[in-house]
Amino acid sequence: MEVIIRPTYQEMSQAAAHEVAKVLNTKPNAVMGMATGSTPLGLYQELVRMHVEEALDFSQVTTFNLDEYVGLPVTHPQSYHHFMHEIFFRHINIPPQNIYIPSGTTSNYPAFCQWYEDSIQRCGGIDLQILGIGTDGHIAFNEPGSSLSSRTRLKTLAKQTIEDNSRFFEHPGEVPVYAITMGVGTILEAKEIILIANGANKAAAITAAIEGPITSMITASGLQLHPTAKVFLDHEAANQLSMREYYDWLEEKRPGAPR
Ligand code: F6R
Repeated sequence: MEVIIRPTYQEMSQAAAHEVAKVLNTKPNAVMGMATGSTPLGLYQELVRMHVEEALDFSQVTTFNLDEYVGLPVTHPQSYHHFMHEIFFRHINIPPQNIYIPSGTTSNYPAFCQWYEDSIQRCGGIDLQILGIGTDGHIAFNEPGSSLSSRTRLKTLAKQTIEDNSRFFEHPGEVPVYAITMGVGTILEAKEIILIANGANKAAAITAAIEGPITSMITASGLQLHPTAKVFLDHEAANQLSMREYYDWLEEKRPGAPR
């Protein structure tokens, strides 16, 4: 895994957005995998800025979101449908028919999950997957114990995740217990992957994912199996990495890096 460390959340978000723009400028009809939550807010804000000020074009882009809560209507302020529309999609020029987000209200989850997997394939597979990480080391909603070859499916959220995400809801009891999520296997098939993490509360999960053994107990550690996964961190999220000096050295010596 390539580890890229920036002093602040804003600089981390800008570095990750630069990576996304690089893919879109190379392949204007790229298929992107999208994450929600608080971590990618700065990244989406920067992409919107690039769209407005630098004409970054989304007119041929297709997106697949990682996950959605089960039981929340698309209009619910905490649904990921609502989040994506408000934070990102309504500010860019992506055609609505190119947006895929798992359904949290389907009456047939197995059939929907298969259709979602098939749709990713039909669109040519994901070119660039954006990921956050949970404090329990999850990617998407692949909680500890999820198979590293899992596919899109219905998943019961861990108590830790429900507690972490209760900050978005008025009452803790409102956090859905189930979600539909891409699997780790689905995610690992993306041609490129970037994971972003900030804040001291992510430091332990990040260290386990990057420097620990590959284990289904920390599903983000499955990214060690991906040939080109990149992890963008702010200083706080990076502060428990034992190889920190080495990552900084690599960055300094990277071909093309400012000297
Ligand atoms: C959301 C998702 C989750 C989050 C993770 C971190 O689509 O896939 O894995 O990335 O729970 O959430 P935040 O960014 O809110 O800390």
